[in-house]
Amino acid sequence: MNSVVNKKIVILGTGGTIAGKSAVAGDNVGYVASQIGVEQLLGAIPALAGAKDGVSSKASYGGCELVCEQVSQIDSKDMNFEVWQCLLARCQHWLAQPDVQGIVITHGTDTLEETAFFLQCCLDTAKPVVLTCAMRPATAIAPDGPQNLLDALAVASSDDQNGIRGVVAVCAGVIHSAVDVQKVHNYRLDAFSSGDAGVLGYVKEGKLDICRKYEVNSRLAGVFIASIAIKSIAKMTSLPRVEIVLNHSGATGAIVEALLAQRKTATSNQLAGIVIAATGNGTISKELEIALQKAEASGITVWRSTRCAFGALVGKADVQFGDSHGLSPVKARIALMLHLAQGAT
Ligand code: SIN
Repeated sequence: MNSVVNKKIVILGTGGTIAGKSAVAGDNVGYVASQIGVEQLLGAIPALAGAKDGVSSKASYGGCELVCEQVSQIDSKDMNFEVWQCLLARCQHWLAQPDVQGIVITHGTDTLEETAFFLQCCLDTAKPVVLTCAMRPATAIAPDGPQNLLDALAVASSDDQNGIRGVVAVCAGVIHSAVDVQKVHNYRLDAFSSGDAGVLGYVKEGKLDICRKYEVNSRLAGVFIASIAIKSIAKMTSLPRVEIVLNHSGATGAIVEALLAQRKTATSNQLAGIVIAATGNGTISKELEIALQKAEASGITVWRSTRCAFGALVGKADVQFGDSHGLSPVKARIALMLHLAQGAT
């Protein structure tokens, strides 16, 4: 812990397993996510007890006062634009306060990487915004949430020397960048990976062990840099609709054809883009390729990414479809939605 004085860390709760409860004490999988409020989560950690909803309290971490706010209470499989909008607005509000040192967001693990990436694209901040989570519910015999929360607070309270700025994720003592983080395991406590880019560092007993500098802008440079004004996101009712289509053995163009047919009759939020989760180094079955070409010819923007968990497409520039610049399909989808929204605003 460092000794920042008179600063605040804001903890925004969104739900997830970290806030989950099971009727059977110690059941790690048969639980309901998003049952416990963020204030209660903090209250369960003796050193932090006393944080109050939206107002000052005596609870502190590393000299920073803790303030908590419940933004949503959902299982992150149901994460949606409305919650993102709200989260973005609350982050913007708190980050603008000079006495706010950083933000911690408690979130479900399942779509944590998507929310982290969305916030990274839309928030222009040098302060740390740290998403954390748990793989076991709060009622587990050995829940991982409390330690993850403490580790996230260590990152949020860190000073500039540590180089943690912008949006990161902390789980199982590991710090990942929002651009690289992805959930790679459905059960293990250390469920996330940063792939080839490598982790940003580790949290060890409240101290940060940083492995590499967070070069977020250079990683995103090929795609776009967050130039969507937060104000215009706040006014939108939705982002342009982008679907992900997977290539696999036996893949036909049927799903793309169905999307095109639906587009003809849809009256609102018509399909605007498709991200292909291609096989290997970007390959697509002949039939799917023909359907995607048809989609592109009808005005839909098509970006190519790979369904491989690690690595980015290598080789000549894609002359057929747009490039996902090394983003996973779920992050490429968000980048394309924001990209299309920029054109529309
Ligand atoms: C969720 O993503 O909200 C549920 C699963 C989890 O947090 O691990």
